[in-house]
Amino acid sequence: MRHKLGRLAWLPLVAIGTMGLAKLVNITIDDAGEDPSTHASIEYTPAIAWHYGPTCGVCEAVLNSQQTYNGTWHDVTYHPTKATSNLPQNATFSFTGSAIYIFGVVAYSGNNPGGHGGAELFFFIDGGQLGSFSSAVNKTAPKYTYNTLLWSEDTLPHGEHRLTIRNGQDGRGTASLLLLDYIIYST
Ligand SMILES: *[C@@H]1O[C@H](CO)[C@@H](O)[C@H](O)[C@H]1NC(C)=O
Ligand SMILES: *[C@@H]1O[C@H](CO)[C@@H](O)[C@H](O)[C@H]1NC(C)=O
Ligand SMILES: *[C@@H]1O[C@H](CO)[C@@H](O)[C@H](O)[C@H]1NC(C)=O
Ligand SMILES: *[C@@H]1O[C@H](CO)[C@@H](O)[C@H](O)[C@H]1NC(C)=O
Repeated sequence: MRHKLGRLAWLPLVAIGTMGLAKLVNITIDDAGEDPSTHASIEYTPAIAWHYGPTCGVCEAVLNSQQTYNGTWHDVTYHPTKATSNLPQNATFSFTGSAIYIFGVVAYSGNNPGGHGGAELFFFIDGGQLGSFSSAVNKTAPKYTYNTLLWSEDTLPHGEHRLTIRNGQDGRGTASLLLLDYIIYST
């Protein structure tokens, strides 16, 4: 009898223990890599605006690839009044999970991009804007700040989500340089 009661008393603890095992796991997606489980990669639109950093000849930002994740990054410049660079520039990634973290390199130097400096980024989940990031020229700051968390959201309902990172405003706002390094999601 005592034995039976003892086992019953443990049941709620066993249930809690089982829930505890369903721990979140982080998955890292390189800007130039793919999701090891789904093989999804980041889509860059319009493709012509985006540059693969390590081999980019026209990019003003010249990074130390050893300080970037997997040695790569993507570079895109938005300029509100330049006909070729005032289009909405998106990086889009689909994942199944409940948290997302976006990492990039921030350029504070006044010569990125095109003498304007700064960044103005907008983050969308499933088409709705949930966040933003901005930085201004700061000539006393290090030229490049690596491994910077640009935005995160860790209270998404667990499920399929579509992340869109938009560089700059749509034909308005300030010039913006995005140096995208990697994305982490939790599932
Ligand atoms: C996932 O990575 C983010 C960013 O580094 C971190 O804040 C978070 O605690 C990590 N979550 C898990 C479950 O490891
Ligand atoms: C590292 O980058 C290369 C492209 O330079 C890519 O092919 C590879 O999948 C990336 N590795 C990881 C782990 O993301
Ligand atoms: C970029 O993303 C925004 C926000 O989701 C969307 O409104 C816009 O249509 C997208 N543009 C392109 C070219 O994909
Ligand atoms: C500029 O950068 C320096 C060095 O990182 C920092 O101390 C200062 O607060 C920054 N200024 C602004 C306006 O952010």
